Amino acid sequence: MDENTLQKFLIDGRICIITGGAGFLGSRFAQAILDAKGIPVLFDVDEEKLKSLVTSFKEKYKVEVMGLKVDIANKDELEKAKELILKQYNRIDVLINCASHNPNPTIQGKEKDISSRFENFSETEWDEALNVGLKGAFLCSQVFGSYMASQNKGVILNIASDLGIIAPDQRIYKKEGVPEFEQPVKPVTYSVEKHAFIGLTKYLATYWAKNGVRVNAIAPGGVYRDHNEEFLQKLSNLIPMGRMADQNEYNAAVLFLVSDASSYMTGATLVIEGGRSAW
Ligand SMILES: NC(=O)c1ccc[n+]([C@@H]2O[C@H](COP(=O)([O-])OP(=O)(O)OC[C@H]3O[C@@H](n4cnc5c(N)ncnc54)[C@H](O)[C@@H]3O)[C@@H](O)[C@H]2O)c1
Repeated sequence: MDENTLQKFLIDGRICIITGGAGFLGSRFAQAILDAKGIPVLFDVDEEKLKSLVTSFKEKYKVEVMGLKVDIANKDELEKAKELILKQYNRIDVLINCASHNPNPTIQGKEKDISSRFENFSETEWDEALNVGLKGAFLCSQVFGSYMASQNKGVILNIASDLGIIAPDQRIYKKEGVPEFEQPVKPVTYSVEKHAFIGLTKYLATYWAKNGVRVNAIAPGGVYRDHNEEFLQKLSNLIPMGRMADQNEYNAAVLFLVSDASSYMTGATLVIEGGRSAW
């Protein structure tokens, strides 16, 4: 049978919710969705970033992009957002769970203090991080995944991490001259959230397999973003390809997974990390 493979990557007019859509990677994914003729709906708590992004997308692509100030940990806000989206577009096709309460100990000037260490890690930090990263994805999947299942069609894509497959190598966050038990670390919540995303992916993929909803994850490695030279070197040494990812290097994988190009794929995690977990 004749079939145009490239056509399968197009998502003409499909409504794609991206949580954390105004963020560093969420905004890249939104651009990829627009490139493939889909319509992104951005959820974020950062109203300023949302506004400027929506304006720039509208100017560049001449389509109605919706940006909604939504706290994904609040089910009432999600239900209201669902009503708004259905009123405007009358469909929801894709959910990308991308938002995260993202403490980044590696970006210059944002070094974490000893509160990130497991022995000192507070219940408040635990609750804050998992409330967004995990409960938020649960609630979004419940609200929008259930809708898609009721329509017998849809896709969920969970943005996990290479740290959803392997443990963080805390040696790369080490600071010169700081005592061992005061060294900043990647917090435990990041590992828990990202491993849990892969569990959530398998659970929902099998739960909704007969209802036309496919659920997959990607496990991306670190993206270069103004990291200091020392950190960059230490991390690059752990990666067979010897570098961090470029900010647009996951877009094609996202398009593959949200489009019909991956029509026989569910419950899978696509690991894209320059080979880091192969070592
Ligand atoms: N950047 C990387 O190197 C990298 C690598 C691997 C995985 N990831 C994962 O990719 C995803 C995106 O990362 P990023 O670098 O774009 O992070 P980011 O911090 O730039 O974006 C996260 C966005 O989520 C939003 N957000 C926070 N709490 C929210 C809430 N309650 N409701 C709605 N939105 C909320 C933030 O305002 C922000 O815009 C995260 O899940 C992250 O763990 C990132």
